Amino acid sequence: MLVLGIESSCDETSVAVVKDGKEVLANIILSQDEHTKFGGVVPEVASRSHLKTIVPIYEEALEKASVKLSDIDLIAATMGPGLVGPLLVGLTFAKGLAYASSIPFVCVNHMEGHLSANYLAHSGIDERHLSLIISGGHTMLLEVKSFGEYELLGNTKDDAAGEAYDKVAKIMGLGYPGGAVLDKLAKDGDSSYMKFPRAMMHDKSYMFSYSGLETAVSLHIKSLSDDEFAKNKANIAASFQEAAVEVLVAKTLRAAKEKHINHITLAGGVAANSRVRSMFTERIRGNQKLFYPPISLCTDNAAMIAAAGYYRFKKEGASELITNAIPYLKMV
Ligand SMILES: Nc1ncnc2c1ncn2[C@@H]1O[C@H](COP(=O)(O)OP(=O)(O)OP(=O)(O)O)[C@@H](O)[C@H]1O
Ligand SMILES: [Mg+2]
Repeated sequence: MLVLGIESSCDETSVAVVKDGKEVLANIILSQDEHTKFGGVVPEVASRSHLKTIVPIYEEALEKASVKLSDIDLIAATMGPGLVGPLLVGLTFAKGLAYASSIPFVCVNHMEGHLSANYLAHSGIDERHLSLIISGGHTMLLEVKSFGEYELLGNTKDDAAGEAYDKVAKIMGLGYPGGAVLDKLAKDGDSSYMKFPRAMMHDKSYMFSYSGLETAVSLHIKSLSDDEFAKNKANIAASFQEAAVEVLVAKTLRAAKEKHINHITLAGGVAANSRVRSMFTERIRGNQKLFYPPISLCTDNAAMIAAAGYYRFKKEGASELITNAIPYLKMV
Protein backbone atom coordinates (compact mmCIF):
# COMPACT_ATOMS: atom_id res chain seq x y z
CA MET A 1 0.00 0.00 0.00
CA LEU A 2 1.43 3.39 -1.03
CA VAL A 3 0.68 6.21 1.41
CA LEU A 4 1.15 9.89 0.66
CA GLY A 5 1.89 11.70 3.95
CA ILE A 6 1.47 15.44 4.49
CA GLU A 7 2.81 17.37 7.51
CA SER A 8 2.36 21.10 8.15
CA SER A 9 1.64 21.45 11.88
CA CYS A 10 4.36 24.00 12.62
CA ASP A 11 7.26 25.32 10.55
CA GLU A 12 8.18 22.28 8.45
CA THR A 13 6.37 21.68 5.16
CA SER A 14 6.80 18.03 4.35
CA VAL A 15 5.39 15.48 1.92
CA ALA A 16 6.39 11.81 1.84
CA VAL A 17 5.59 8.60 0.02
CA VAL A 18 5.84 5.46 2.18
CA LYS A 19 5.21 1.87 1.16
CA ASP A 20 3.37 -0.45 3.59
CA GLY A 21 4.12 1.76 6.59
CA LYS A 22 7.77 0.81 6.35
CA GLU A 23 9.70 1.77 3.22
CA VAL A 24 10.33 5.50 2.72
CA LEU A 25 10.32 6.20 -1.03
CA ALA A 26 10.46 9.98 -0.56
CA ASN A 27 10.43 12.31 2.44
CA ILE A 28 10.83 15.93 1.35
CA ILE A 29 11.16 18.37 4.26
CA LEU A 30 11.37 22.12 3.98
CA SER A 31 12.25 23.85 7.27
CA GLN A 32 11.07 27.44 7.11
CA ASP A 33 13.90 29.81 7.98
CA GLU A 34 11.70 32.92 7.96
CA HIS A 35 11.20 32.63 11.73
CA THR A 36 14.84 32.78 12.84
CA LYS A 37 14.90 36.58 13.01
CA PHE A 38 11.82 36.58 15.27
CA GLY A 39 13.29 34.06 17.73
CA GLY A 40 10.24 31.79 17.43
CA VAL A 41 7.58 30.62 14.99
CA VAL A 42 5.18 33.33 13.75
CA PRO A 43 1.94 31.44 12.91
CA GLU A 44 0.77 33.71 10.09
CA VAL A 45 4.20 33.68 8.43
CA ALA A 46 4.24 29.86 8.75
CA SER A 47 0.77 29.51 7.15
CA ARG A 48 1.75 31.69 4.17
CA SER A 49 5.00 29.83 3.69
CA HIS A 50 3.18 26.43 3.73
CA LEU A 51 0.74 27.79 1.12
CA LYS A 52 3.61 28.81 -1.13
CA THR A 53 5.58 25.60 -0.90
CA ILE A 54 3.16 22.71 -0.42
CA VAL A 55 2.39 22.10 -4.11
CA PRO A 56 6.03 22.11 -5.30
CA ILE A 57 7.02 19.87 -2.37
CA TYR A 58 4.18 17.47 -3.18
CA GLU A 59 5.34 17.33 -6.81
CA GLU A 60 8.93 16.79 -5.72
CA ALA A 61 7.90 13.92 -3.42
CA LEU A 62 6.00 12.11 -6.20
CA GLU A 63 8.93 12.60 -8.56
CA LYS A 64 11.50 11.38 -6.01
CA ALA A 65 9.38 8.29 -5.29
CA SER A 66 8.85 7.74 -9.06
CA VAL A 67 5.09 7.43 -8.62
CA LYS A 68 2.00 9.22 -9.94
CA LEU A 69 -0.99 10.33 -7.86
CA SER A 70 -2.99 7.49 -9.41
CA ASP A 71 -0.53 4.99 -7.80
CA ILE A 72 -1.30 6.33 -4.29
CA ASP A 73 -3.66 4.16 -2.18
CA LEU A 74 -4.11 6.43 0.85
CA ILE A 75 -3.54 10.09 1.70
CA ALA A 76 -2.63 10.87 5.33
CA ALA A 77 -2.34 14.35 6.83
CA THR A 78 -1.72 15.84 10.28
CA MET A 79 -4.93 17.19 11.88
CA GLY A 80 -3.32 18.31 15.19
CA PRO A 81 -1.86 19.19 17.57
CA GLY A 82 -0.20 22.26 16.10
CA LEU A 83 -0.85 25.78 14.87
CA VAL A 84 -4.30 26.04 13.34
CA GLY A 85 -3.35 28.04 10.22
CA PRO A 86 -0.41 25.81 9.25
CA LEU A 87 -2.47 22.67 10.04
CA LEU A 88 -5.31 23.85 7.78
CA VAL A 89 -3.00 24.31 4.81
CA GLY A 90 -1.77 20.69 4.79
CA LEU A 91 -5.08 19.17 5.85
CA THR A 92 -7.14 21.08 3.27
CA PHE A 93 -4.64 20.27 0.52
CA ALA A 94 -4.76 16.58 1.48
CA LYS A 95 -8.56 16.46 1.61
CA GLY A 96 -8.86 18.28 -1.74
CA LEU A 97 -6.45 15.84 -3.33
CA ALA A 98 -8.29 12.86 -1.84
CA TYR A 99 -11.71 14.15 -2.95
CA ALA A 100 -10.60 15.05 -6.48
CA SER A 101 -8.86 11.73 -7.05
CA SER A 102 -11.21 9.45 -5.02
CA ILE A 103 -8.35 8.20 -2.86
CA PRO A 104 -9.17 7.31 0.78
CA PHE A 105 -8.07 9.91 3.32
CA VAL A 106 -6.96 9.43 6.91
CA CYS A 107 -6.18 12.11 9.47
CA VAL A 108 -3.27 11.67 11.85
CA ASN A 109 -2.36 12.87 15.33
CA HIS A 110 1.08 14.49 14.99
CA MET A 111 2.30 12.87 18.23
CA GLU A 112 1.24 9.42 17.04
CA GLY A 113 3.27 10.34 13.95
CA HIS A 114 6.37 10.96 16.09
CA LEU A 115 5.83 7.61 17.83
CA SER A 116 5.40 5.86 14.46
CA ALA A 117 8.82 7.03 13.24
CA ASN A 118 10.14 4.08 15.26
CA TYR A 119 8.02 1.61 13.26
CA LEU A 120 9.57 3.04 10.09
CA ALA A 121 13.07 2.62 11.42
CA HIS A 122 12.86 -0.70 13.31
CA SER A 123 11.23 -4.09 13.23
CA GLY A 124 10.82 -6.22 16.33
CA ILE A 125 9.49 -3.59 18.74
CA ASP A 126 7.21 -5.33 21.24
CA GLU A 127 3.57 -4.38 20.68
CA ARG A 128 3.43 -3.39 24.36
CA HIS A 129 6.26 -0.99 25.04
CA LEU A 130 7.15 2.28 26.70
CA SER A 131 7.53 5.42 24.60
CA LEU A 132 9.12 8.69 25.63
CA ILE A 133 8.03 11.42 23.22
CA ILE A 134 10.16 14.50 23.71
CA SER A 135 9.54 17.34 21.28
CA GLY A 136 9.20 21.10 20.99
CA GLY A 137 5.72 21.09 22.49
CA HIS A 138 5.42 17.82 24.41
CA THR A 139 7.10 15.61 27.00
CA MET A 140 5.05 12.44 27.26
CA LEU A 141 5.82 9.10 28.83
CA LEU A 142 3.37 6.58 27.39
CA GLU A 143 2.66 2.96 27.92
CA VAL A 144 1.83 1.74 24.41
CA LYS A 145 -0.45 -1.27 24.85
CA SER A 146 -0.82 -1.64 21.08
CA PHE A 147 -0.92 0.84 18.21
CA GLY A 148 -3.62 3.39 19.09
CA GLU A 149 -4.05 2.21 22.68
CA TYR A 150 -2.06 4.35 25.07
CA GLU A 151 -1.84 5.11 28.76
CA LEU A 152 -0.29 8.45 29.63
CA LEU A 153 2.05 7.78 32.56
CA GLY A 154 3.43 11.30 32.75
CA ASN A 155 3.86 14.58 30.97
CA THR A 156 5.23 18.01 31.77
CA LYS A 157 3.84 20.34 34.40
CA ASP A 158 5.19 23.36 32.52
CA ASP A 159 7.60 23.51 29.57
CA ALA A 160 8.36 20.64 27.21
CA ALA A 161 11.89 19.24 26.97
CA GLY A 162 12.48 20.82 23.53
CA GLU A 163 11.09 24.12 24.79
CA ALA A 164 13.60 24.05 27.66
CA TYR A 165 16.44 23.45 25.20
CA ASP A 166 15.19 26.30 23.00
CA LYS A 167 14.78 28.72 25.93
CA VAL A 168 18.20 27.98 27.42
CA ALA A 169 19.76 28.23 23.95
CA LYS A 170 18.11 31.62 23.53
CA ILE A 171 19.36 32.85 26.92
CA MET A 172 22.85 31.72 25.86
CA GLY A 173 22.61 33.59 22.54
CA LEU A 174 22.67 30.41 20.44
CA GLY A 175 19.70 31.38 18.22
CA TYR A 176 16.38 29.67 17.52
CA PRO A 177 15.66 26.78 17.45
CA GLY A 178 18.68 26.06 19.58
CA GLY A 179 18.38 22.42 20.71
CA ALA A 180 20.75 20.97 18.15
CA VAL A 181 23.24 23.87 18.52
CA LEU A 182 23.26 23.47 22.31
CA ASP A 183 23.77 19.71 21.93
CA LYS A 184 26.82 20.34 19.72
CA LEU A 185 28.26 23.00 22.07
CA ALA A 186 27.79 20.70 25.10
CA LYS A 187 30.16 18.15 23.52
CA ASP A 188 33.07 20.52 24.27
CA GLY A 189 31.94 21.16 27.83
CA ASP A 190 32.31 19.59 31.27
CA SER A 191 28.94 18.53 32.68
CA SER A 192 30.30 18.50 36.25
CA TYR A 193 30.93 22.28 36.04
CA MET A 194 27.60 23.00 37.74
CA LYS A 195 25.00 20.75 39.38
CA PHE A 196 21.74 22.23 38.09
CA PRO A 197 18.47 20.98 39.66
CA ARG A 198 16.96 17.67 38.50
CA ALA A 199 13.32 18.69 39.00
CA MET A 200 10.95 15.99 40.27
CA MET A 201 13.55 13.29 39.72
CA HIS A 202 12.80 11.52 42.99
CA ASP A 203 9.08 12.26 42.91
CA LYS A 204 6.98 9.09 42.78
CA SER A 205 4.98 10.33 39.78
CA TYR A 206 6.19 10.21 36.19
CA MET A 207 5.66 13.95 35.77
CA PHE A 208 8.36 16.28 34.49
CA SER A 209 9.08 19.98 35.02
CA TYR A 210 11.59 22.22 33.27
CA SER A 211 10.85 25.79 34.35
CA GLY A 212 13.00 25.54 37.52
CA LEU A 213 15.98 24.31 35.54
CA GLU A 214 15.58 27.14 33.03
CA THR A 215 15.49 29.68 35.88
CA ALA A 216 18.54 28.13 37.54
CA VAL A 217 20.55 28.35 34.31
CA SER A 218 19.38 31.91 33.71
CA LEU A 219 20.27 33.05 37.25
CA HIS A 220 23.67 31.38 37.02
CA ILE A 221 24.44 33.16 33.74
CA LYS A 222 23.36 36.50 35.27
CA SER A 223 25.83 35.93 38.12
CA LEU A 224 28.77 35.66 35.71
CA SER A 225 30.84 38.41 34.13
CA ASP A 226 30.88 38.53 30.31
CA ASP A 227 34.35 36.96 30.35
CA GLU A 228 33.36 34.16 32.72
CA PHE A 229 30.28 33.45 30.59
CA ALA A 230 32.29 33.35 27.38
CA LYS A 231 34.84 31.01 28.98
CA ASN A 232 32.20 28.64 30.38
CA LYS A 233 29.60 28.56 27.60
CA ALA A 234 30.25 24.92 26.70
CA ASN A 235 30.37 23.95 30.40
CA ILE A 236 26.99 25.60 31.03
CA ALA A 237 25.50 23.84 27.99
CA ALA A 238 26.85 20.46 29.15
CA SER A 239 25.68 20.98 32.75
CA PHE A 240 22.18 22.03 31.65
CA GLN A 241 21.98 19.08 29.27
CA GLU A 242 23.07 16.59 31.92
CA ALA A 243 20.32 17.80 34.28
CA ALA A 244 17.64 17.90 31.57
CA VAL A 245 18.47 14.43 30.28
CA GLU A 246 19.04 12.68 33.59
CA VAL A 247 15.44 13.22 34.70
CA LEU A 248 14.11 11.87 31.39
CA VAL A 249 16.28 8.77 31.61
CA ALA A 250 15.75 8.10 35.33
CA LYS A 251 11.97 8.36 35.17
CA THR A 252 11.61 6.35 31.98
CA LEU A 253 13.80 3.53 33.27
CA ARG A 254 11.95 3.52 36.60
CA ALA A 255 8.66 3.21 34.72
CA ALA A 256 10.09 0.38 32.61
CA LYS A 257 11.10 -1.47 35.77
CA GLU A 258 7.85 -0.85 37.64
CA LYS A 259 5.69 -1.80 34.66
CA HIS A 260 7.87 -4.76 33.65
CA ILE A 261 8.32 -3.39 30.12
CA ASN A 262 11.54 -4.19 28.28
CA HIS A 263 11.25 -2.28 25.01
CA ILE A 264 11.62 1.51 25.12
CA THR A 265 11.18 3.83 22.14
CA LEU A 266 12.26 7.46 21.98
CA ALA A 267 10.61 9.93 19.62
CA GLY A 268 10.36 13.64 18.81
CA GLY A 269 13.03 16.27 18.12
CA VAL A 270 14.85 15.83 21.44
CA ALA A 271 15.29 12.11 20.68
CA ALA A 272 17.92 13.41 18.21
CA ASN A 273 19.96 14.61 21.20
CA SER A 274 23.31 12.89 21.57
CA ARG A 275 23.26 12.80 25.39
CA VAL A 276 19.68 11.46 25.49
CA ARG A 277 20.81 8.60 23.28
CA SER A 278 24.08 7.95 25.10
CA MET A 279 22.68 8.13 28.66
CA PHE A 280 19.81 5.75 27.83
CA THR A 281 22.30 3.40 26.15
CA GLU A 282 24.62 3.49 29.19
CA ARG A 283 21.83 2.84 31.69
CA ILE A 284 19.60 0.19 30.14
CA ARG A 285 20.11 -3.23 31.69
CA GLY A 286 19.48 -6.92 31.04
CA ASN A 287 16.62 -7.56 28.62
CA GLN A 288 15.87 -3.88 28.13
CA LYS A 289 16.13 -2.71 24.54
CA LEU A 290 16.24 0.86 23.29
CA PHE A 291 14.94 2.08 19.92
CA TYR A 292 15.14 5.53 18.41
CA PRO A 293 14.63 6.81 14.87
CA PRO A 294 17.44 8.27 12.76
CA ILE A 295 17.81 12.04 13.33
CA SER A 296 15.95 12.89 10.10
CA LEU A 297 12.85 11.07 11.40
CA CYS A 298 12.99 12.57 14.93
CA THR A 299 12.07 16.14 13.98
CA ASP A 300 8.90 16.92 12.01
CA ASN A 301 8.59 15.02 8.74
CA ALA A 302 5.80 13.55 6.62
CA ALA A 303 7.15 9.97 6.48
CA MET A 304 6.15 9.50 10.13
CA ILE A 305 2.67 10.85 9.28
CA ALA A 306 2.37 8.40 6.38
CA ALA A 307 3.43 5.53 8.68
CA ALA A 308 0.91 6.52 11.38
CA GLY A 309 -1.75 6.95 8.69
CA TYR A 310 -1.07 3.45 7.40
CA TYR A 311 -1.58 1.89 10.86
CA ARG A 312 -4.62 4.10 11.63
CA PHE A 313 -6.25 3.12 8.32
CA LYS A 314 -5.60 -0.57 9.02
CA LYS A 315 -7.18 -0.18 12.46
CA GLU A 316 -10.15 2.07 11.72
CA GLY A 317 -10.47 2.67 7.98
CA ALA A 318 -10.72 6.07 6.33
CA SER A 319 -11.56 9.38 8.01
CA GLU A 320 -14.38 11.61 6.86
CA LEU A 321 -13.50 14.48 4.57
CA ILE A 322 -15.27 16.90 6.92
CA THR A 323 -12.55 16.23 9.55
CA ASN A 324 -11.20 19.56 10.78
CA ALA A 325 -7.89 20.68 12.29
CA ILE A 326 -7.71 20.44 16.09
CA PRO A 327 -4.86 22.58 17.48
CA TYR A 328 -4.93 21.00 20.96
CA LEU A 329 -5.66 17.45 19.85
CA LYS A 330 -4.82 14.95 22.59
CA MET A 331 -3.26 11.57 22.01
CA VAL A 332 -4.67 9.92 25.11
N1 LIG B 1 20.02 17.47 19.03
C1 LIG B 1 19.03 18.05 19.71
N2 LIG B 1 19.13 18.20 21.05
C2 LIG B 1 18.13 18.76 21.76
N3 LIG B 1 17.01 19.24 21.22
C3 LIG B 1 16.86 19.12 19.89
C4 LIG B 1 17.85 18.52 19.07
N4 LIG B 1 17.40 18.54 17.78
C5 LIG B 1 16.19 19.14 17.81
N5 LIG B 1 15.86 19.48 19.08
C6 LIG B 1 14.64 20.16 19.55
O1 LIG B 1 13.51 19.46 19.10
C7 LIG B 1 12.42 20.37 18.97
C8 LIG B 1 11.76 20.18 17.62
O2 LIG B 1 11.23 18.88 17.63
P1 LIG B 1 9.84 18.55 16.98
O3 LIG B 1 9.92 18.89 15.54
O4 LIG B 1 9.53 17.17 17.34
O5 LIG B 1 8.93 19.57 17.80
P2 LIG B 1 7.59 20.30 17.37
O6 LIG B 1 6.99 19.61 16.21
O7 LIG B 1 7.89 21.74 17.27
O8 LIG B 1 6.69 20.05 18.64
P3 LIG B 1 5.51 18.96 18.80
O9 LIG B 1 5.95 17.75 18.05
O10 LIG B 1 5.40 18.76 20.26
O11 LIG B 1 4.31 19.59 18.19
C9 LIG B 1 12.98 21.77 19.13
O12 LIG B 1 12.65 22.20 20.43
C10 LIG B 1 14.47 21.55 18.97
O13 LIG B 1 15.26 22.48 19.65
MG1 LIG C 1 6.76 17.61 16.13
